[in-house]
Parts: sequence; C-alpha cells; structure tokens
Amino acid sequence: MVDPTRDYTERYSGLGGLEIGIVGCGEIVESAHLPAYDAAGFSVAGVTDENAERATEVADRFDVVAYPDLETMVADVDVVDVAVPPRFQPEIVDTVVDAGCHLLCQKPLADDFEAAERICERVADADVVAAVNQQMRWEKSIRAVSDLLEEGALGTPLRATIEVNIETDWSNWGWMLESPRLEVMFHSIHYLDAMRSLFGDPVGVSSTMAKVPSQPAEGETRTLHVLEYPDQLRATIDVNHNNWADPYARFRFEGTEGLVRGTIGLFDHYPESGPDTFEFLAAGDSEGERYEISDAWFPDAFVGTMGSLLEAIETGETPPTHVQDNLETLRLANATYKSWNERSRVDPSTVAEDHEPTW
Ligand SMILES: NC(=O)c1ccc[n+]([C@@H]2O[C@H](COP(=O)([O-])OP(=O)(O)OC[C@H]3O[C@@H](n4cnc5c(N)ncnc54)[C@H](O)[C@@H]3O)[C@@H](O)[C@H]2O)c1
Repeated sequence: MVDPTRDYTERYSGLGGLEIGIVGCGEIVESAHLPAYDAAGFSVAGVTDENAERATEVADRFDVVAYPDLETMVADVDVVDVAVPPRFQPEIVDTVVDAGCHLLCQKPLADDFEAAERICERVADADVVAAVNQQMRWEKSIRAVSDLLEEGALGTPLRATIEVNIETDWSNWGWMLESPRLEVMFHSIHYLDAMRSLFGDPVGVSSTMAKVPSQPAEGETRTLHVLEYPDQLRATIDVNHNNWADPYARFRFEGTEGLVRGTIGLFDHYPESGPDTFEFLAAGDSEGERYEISDAWFPDAFVGTMGSLLEAIETGETPPTHVQDNLETLRLANATYKSWNERSRVDPSTVAEDHEPTW
C-alpha cells in the first residue's frame, strides 16, 4: 500500500547547482517560494520587483541579493521564477528567454489564451525549459492518489470529487478584485490541473458559476464543474469562497476496488492551516488505513514544481508541468466559462479562445 506521508519531493533535495532568480516579491514568494526553496537547498541568487523597497525587504529576510531590475538579474542566474500578476508574465518571459534562462511561470500562464500560446512558441523556439507552478500535483494526497491509481489499488476510477467551502478575503490582491475571471483562473485552476494530472484530459465539462450580491470582487466566487471522461469516470470540483461559518475542504476518489477520502489541511479550517487527512479503504472494508500528513500543499509542494524543473534541465527530460501541457489546463479553464455562458456541456478540446463569465 502507498504511504501518503512519504516525501514525494525528496528526490529534488540538493539540486542546488543552478542559480535561481525570482521576479515579483509578493505574498506568495515570501510565504511559499522562498521558504520551500530554502528547505530543499535550492540556490536562490536573488529577487527583483518593480517595487524596489519590497525587493529589498524580501531579499534581506532570506539573505539573497535584491537586483535593481530583471535585466540585471537574468545576467546573473540560470533559472527565473516568475511570480507577478499574469498580465505581466508574457513580457517577462520574452526578456528571460532572450537571455537564455530557464523559467518557472506562474499560474495562470497568461491572462489570455493567445498570449499563453505565444509563450509556448517562444519557449519551443529557444533552447530553454519552461514549466508552470501548478504545484498541487505535488500535494501529498494528490501524489498518493496518483500512486494508488498506478498500482491499481482503486481499480477502475469512477468518481472523483474536490470540495472546498471557505471564506476568501480577496482584498489583499487589488488586481484580482478587478479581474472579470476570478475563482477558476486563480483558484480552481489548481483542481482542474490536479484532475488532469490524475485522469488526463476530460472530453466534456459542464460548469455553473455564481457570485454573492454584495461581494467586492468583479468575478465569480462560487463555481461547480463536472468533468466527463470517456469511460464511466465523472469528476466534480465544487468551490465556494463565501462560507463565513464553517470552512471545510475535502476530497474523495472512488474506484471499483477501493476509495480514498480525506481533507485538504490548507483549507479545512481556513485561514488556519493543518495537516491533510488521508484514508484508504479497499472494497468491502468498513474501516481503512488513516494517515495525517503534516507537509502542507503551501509551501511544501512548491519544492515539486521548481525541483522537477531543475531536474528536467539537468536530465534533458520534459518537466510534468511544462508550458505546453499547461495550455491544456488553460483550455479547460476557458471551457468552464464557455459552458457557464452557454449553459451547456463543452468539449474542452474545441476551445481555442477566451471566455469571460456573463451575468
Ligand atoms: N501557484 C500558486 O499556488 C499561487 C498562489 C498564489 C499566487 N500565485 C500567482 O503568483 C503571482 C503573484 O501572486 P501574489 O499573491 O504574490 O501577488 P502580490 O500582488 O502579493 O505580489 C505581486 C508582486 O509582483 C510585483 N510586480 C508586479 N508587476 C511586476 C513587474 N512587471 N515586474 C516586477 N515585479 C512586478 C508587485 O510589485 C508585487 O510585489 C500571481 O500570478 C498569482 O496568480 C500562485
């Protein structure tokens, strides 16, 4: 039986041979990127931000260089980790690729699909490796489900659910408040990508979206998606950011031979973070094996995205979240908006353009 508490990112520890530079010194870099890289022993040369004061503050805290600008930083590093709002990512990618540096982009890959396609073309034409920070693939519960599926311990997968019901204060991110696409592009995109990593690309998606009357954010804050697969598997993602009473976050993966159920510690008592719980039941068992997983999705899983990129650069292999693969996650995100707008099931493979929710 798979041990979900095992360290799935151990293989990346000590991949410190390449120098990393980070552009953007916002909330996520301070709370997740830098602590995770520190713990894994990756070599971070320095950081830069259009807000020089912020760059210095973060650089001082983590004892790295504060570069005055991106151009200076790329001359000094091998890999650039981008962590700015998505509309700035395409131009940053241009500068980084021109300098011959490898890249870890943020999710969403771009604000619009065409820009994301251009990023993929720029990367394909250059001798660089580029991945996207969809680190939920290294969240231990997701990784353990992946191993159980591979072992056949779940049998034929039939039903997968991720359910997150929390209260999110978006006001820390003024640029997110203004975005016409919110919940899917900035949050559920992780669950869509995690489902893709486990089961591949769905052949259909049916989505519904909503807001609450007084919300300050422009975009959707409640979404529900049913992903349809060619066999009998159906996956649902049900997320609400307006639960002021009793936060919870759980998952369940059911197959003909077994099931996994558990909670996502990062959100289960949000904003408090705790361990994941993970339980595996073989078919016919009434009680299963129950685990508590202390490593958190944030920041621990961030070792996986950067580590797999560093490993890919060294081995010449393709990282699991490479930009071309991520285009399919973005396509699926777009398909959810199209499905909501048209009130119908959409085949994601047919969606090559952007859709914004209409109300
Ligand atoms: N992978 C994840 O799980 C995850 C989680 C949270 C945020 N994110 C993504 O990370 C990015 C940053 O999020 P955040 O929460 O840190 O946002 P934030 O608003 O806290 O920080 C953004 C930072 O980028 C800087 N910046 C903006 N434009 C810049 C530019 N052109 N050049 C240099 N610096 C620039 C700002 O000054 C700010 O310090 C977003 O794309 C977001 O979607 C990803």
